[in-house]
Amino acid sequence: AGEVAARGASLGFDPISLNTEDRVTVPEGYQSQVLIRWGDPLTSTAPAFQLDAQRAAAQAEQFGYNCDFVGFFPLPRWGARVSTMGLLAVNHEYTNPELMFPDYVAGNPTQEQVAIELAAHGVSIVEVRRRRRGAIPFVPSGEAGVERWTYVVGSAYNRRITAETSMEITGPAKGHPWLRTSDDPSGVTVRGTLNNCAGGKTPWGTLLTCEENFHQYFANLDALPDDDPRKAAHARYGLPAGATERRWELYHARFDLAREPNEPFRFGWVVEIDPYDPSSTPRKRTALGRFKHEGATVVVNGDGRVVVYSGDDERFEYIYKFVSSGRFDPRSREANFDLLDEGTLYVARFNDDGTGEWLPLVHGAGPLTAENGFASQADVLINTRGAADLLGANKMDRPEDIEVNPVNGKVYCVLTNNTRRQPDQVNAANPRPNNKHGHIIELTEDGNDYAATTFTWEIFMLCGDPANPDDQAYFAGFDPSLVSPISSPDNITFDRAGNLWIATDGQPGTFRKNDGIFVVPVEGPERGYLRQFLSGPRGAEICGPEFTPNGAGLFCAVQHPGEGGTFAQPASTWPDGIAPPRPSVVVVTREHGRPVIGS
Ligand code: FEO
Ligand code: CA
Ligand code: CA
Ligand code: CA
Repeated sequence: AGEVAARGASLGFDPISLNTEDRVTVPEGYQSQVLIRWGDPLTSTAPAFQLDAQRAAAQAEQFGYNCDFVGFFPLPRWGARVSTMGLLAVNHEYTNPELMFPDYVAGNPTQEQVAIELAAHGVSIVEVRRRRRGAIPFVPSGEAGVERWTYVVGSAYNRRITAETSMEITGPAKGHPWLRTSDDPSGVTVRGTLNNCAGGKTPWGTLLTCEENFHQYFANLDALPDDDPRKAAHARYGLPAGATERRWELYHARFDLAREPNEPFRFGWVVEIDPYDPSSTPRKRTALGRFKHEGATVVVNGDGRVVVYSGDDERFEYIYKFVSSGRFDPRSREANFDLLDEGTLYVARFNDDGTGEWLPLVHGAGPLTAENGFASQADVLINTRGAADLLGANKMDRPEDIEVNPVNGKVYCVLTNNTRRQPDQVNAANPRPNNKHGHIIELTEDGNDYAATTFTWEIFMLCGDPANPDDQAYFAGFDPSLVSPISSPDNITFDRAGNLWIATDGQPGTFRKNDGIFVVPVEGPERGYLRQFLSGPRGAEICGPEFTPNGAGLFCAVQHPGEGGTFAQPASTWPDGIAPPRPSVVVVTREHGRPVIGS
């Protein structure tokens, strides 16, 4: 153990422990700083956050709620080797009105509260800058009282995209009859984006922001007749039979299926946004399929085609990838702007012998025919789940981030948990019944060809508490007595050495401890040696994470601090020490401005 402990210094920090403190904890030698909070003004005309003067018009110019994905885009242009100034693109997945409004009445919101919630959803684009080194005192191991990074109020790049922003539908499903509504009889223009969870960045410098649990916004599925095929399609995506919990349908016909039965078909897509052009129109890329997209991460294949991996985050749902028809052109950003409109979508089947296949979701192939309800490729893409069911893909334990490691080239698939899996439903790729802690699969495309239709795979990690034999935790064969306990992995990223960074969403439920960020080498003698790097405040999941290109800044989102409480009885008062808690983006830096890991 002494020898391993000595090697343990190789990541350069002493791991922290799970805790229940209402703050961000980082290792000795690092500091964390709140960069931007819910309600902070983005424009020079936006008011500062005022609890008792919340207005939808103000929220539409302020940082939104429940920040999730964080993407760093360098300035002054995509491709610049700059780590000190850039644009952060941040998703705002959903709202917690019971924490936002002192006078919120569950089931009976006011019209203005609903309007504020609509404006607090979506995406923020915000310019950020690192202040010059040396000018700022370093606060070791703590939350900084000084600002190492700042965001730029009133930057011409700053932008809010909300649940009301006009966007365009592109790709094979554009204009399909099921996408038409009374507001948009042609089925090409949608108001807004909803439940933007994780996402990705394209090689041409655009944001992919992913619509995840969109079902919760649409009321009254039971208003559709049983013989209407749209009813079965909506049911496959879990739309509620009657009223929603949020009750937006009280004030907006488009959230009521009795009045607009097609509106939900206009959500559940991957949305592409050019963060460098504040006047650009966001585009819903239907070729990537419609499901509860956690994220969408992109890799350029050896032959120039681009491949997008995406998980459908619900119990017993699937893992997908898209392979473009066209090829990436590194000489011109704009030449790539429509690459994601044409290509082939696949769904994964993991065989018990460690092999696997990508099954094409192509109209006319196999069972995807008109007799089975798929009369066109648009039908396949609008009801992607139903098409994948017919192909016999693997029902997984809630697929979250799927990302390619830029150092070893392997694909890491995060399965966050699935407590509903029964003992007779286990298979090699989902090996534990009542999987409360989740696991991570390491997938290798055959021939290292990301467009391949066959792959091999193995379990990299079975999460849990290594001290609890009931958890059957496994860390790529590494001595479990030396690793940190971890539960409910969600978002991942990689540092420049290819180490895997994992943010969690669920430890308050499984461990009665706060969520955090963990790092684990995937190659060499420390493969599987997981260590905890960060712990968040109470009730929050941790999202992002995202490094600056030089590795010296680590951005992460603190989402829904205080969840589980109410405004009157908050479970957290982070970050300001008073109610309400405020979802925020945090940046972690190291002494002397060194890279977070390595030198
Ligand atoms: Fe919004 Fe899959 O987490
Ligand atoms: Ca997530
Ligand atoms: Ca990620
Ligand atoms: Ca999650």
